Amino acid sequence: MYIQSVTNRSSAVNALLVFVTLLPLYAGSYWYRTQHPYGSLSTPRTDHPSPSGFIRSWLDIHVVQPFNPSPIAAYCNRTEWHSNLVFDLDNANGGIGNVRGNILDFLLYAIEAGASIILPGMATRSQDNLADVWASRAPFDLLFDEDWFLIALSQTCPQMAIYKPEKGQEMAKALPGNYWPRSRRVDLDGTNTKKAYREHLDEWLKSKAEFVPDNLTLVNVERTLWEVDTRSVPRGFRRNFGQLLRVNPTIRRLAAVIVQNLVSRYLILRFDAGQAIPRRAFYGAHLRTEHDARVAGWLDAPYANYSSQTRAYMNQALANNLNVIYVASGNTTDLAAFKAKAAAHAPPLNVTSKMELLPPSDLHVLKQLSWDQQALVDYEVLQRSSVFSGLVKSSFSYNIAMTRNQWL
Ligand SMILES: *[C@@H]1O[C@H](CO)[C@@H](O)[C@H](O)[C@H]1NC(C)=O
Ligand SMILES: *[C@@H]1O[C@H](CO)[C@@H](O)[C@H](O)[C@H]1NC(C)=O
Ligand SMILES: *[C@@H]1O[C@H](CO)[C@@H](O)[C@H](O)[C@H]1NC(C)=O
Ligand SMILES: *[C@@H]1O[C@H](CO)[C@@H](O)[C@H](O)[C@H]1NC(C)=O
Ligand SMILES: *[C@@H]1O[C@H](CO)[C@@H](O)[C@H](O)[C@H]1NC(C)=O
Repeated sequence: MYIQSVTNRSSAVNALLVFVTLLPLYAGSYWYRTQHPYGSLSTPRTDHPSPSGFIRSWLDIHVVQPFNPSPIAAYCNRTEWHSNLVFDLDNANGGIGNVRGNILDFLLYAIEAGASIILPGMATRSQDNLADVWASRAPFDLLFDEDWFLIALSQTCPQMAIYKPEKGQEMAKALPGNYWPRSRRVDLDGTNTKKAYREHLDEWLKSKAEFVPDNLTLVNVERTLWEVDTRSVPRGFRRNFGQLLRVNPTIRRLAAVIVQNLVSRYLILRFDAGQAIPRRAFYGAHLRTEHDARVAGWLDAPYANYSSQTRAYMNQALANNLNVIYVASGNTTDLAAFKAKAAAHAPPLNVTSKMELLPPSDLHVLKQLSWDQQALVDYEVLQRSSVFSGLVKSSFSYNIAMTRNQWL
């Protein structure tokens, strides 16, 4: 009977009834919310926590996280492991962008071959001639977090031994020549499968007179760069694989100090150090106009020179209402010119960089670092800028962009 009477009422009367019923509910919750705003826990958040608290919170966060070992573990578990096969990556080289690519390629090749590895090192740049990226050699921890890498790999691929021979110590004589792995870019060629790669490796091994299957076999693997189509591996593997390489924590700490100083110097309010990518805080730009980029011809491309880069960065900062620009550049002359250009702009923009944002003791630490290590500080700061731009030719910029894209 009741239902009958409701359906018989005009719709205007029904709407009025609903409105009158909901009104006290709305008023009540409005009142409650104004008394108990969202985000206020028992201790209200301060805009500027202590510097050390800020630094700790900032360091706790990685742009891509959390690390989930199980997809990589499942992939490693599908491999047939050969405890006497050891891969050595002898010639990773360049800055963070390239070395990271070299090492991740190498790791995937090792996993798919069921091989153990020698902890990869890398060639380092000459301090006098930055275009000479082969000047000397350095260990893994020059750029990366070694403890984290060893822990993460032991969680994911316990079958893979990681050797770290001391200088002058030789674990075995490597087979002659470098092994150049077959591409795993299935996106380019559907036959670039894991199986095809394994066959290619087996053929190479068998072609060596020195190869004794039961003996310890050391293979010098030639470096490759982005020869793996990560879309062809399981999604979870792809998301977690890159996380195996984290930046050396000593260097990363300097990045945290820089961001803390940036925030207090430019009074960036409501900056939450616990957020991977804070909104409306600062603009990050990679001004890639160093001598080596010029030598490589990158700056001759359309809209790639100093003036085009700086104009683009300023326009984009303005379009995003960000008036503080953190600039990474190994070219101090161009950096100073950019700063002057931005200050003269109407409305003025503040351009700053790592050297200005470190207290003397940390500046001293920074200056002891090599050119590529110093660039890592920028790498960490830029990854967590509100908006980022860089030069498309640069693997450094490209890695930052890809990481941020993964975060999105
Ligand atoms: C590895 O595979 C075995 C069986 O093939 C299974 O019992 C085990 O749980 C797997 N481990 C992981 C980490 O996936
Ligand atoms: C294989 O290992 C054995 C034992 O270490 C050694 O005597 C032999 O020379 C090795 N063979 C080759 C071809 O290296
Ligand atoms: C910086 O750029 C200028 C051109 O603007 C160039 O002449 C100079 O060699 C560069 N310096 C470095 C250290 O790359
Ligand atoms: C920089 O590049 C732009 C666009 O490619 C070009 O119009 C301009 O002349 C270049 N400036 C210099 C100083 O070479
Ligand atoms: C930001 O730039 C403006 C204009 O050049 C300048 O007046 C101001 O002092 C700068 N702020 C800081 C904190 O350096």
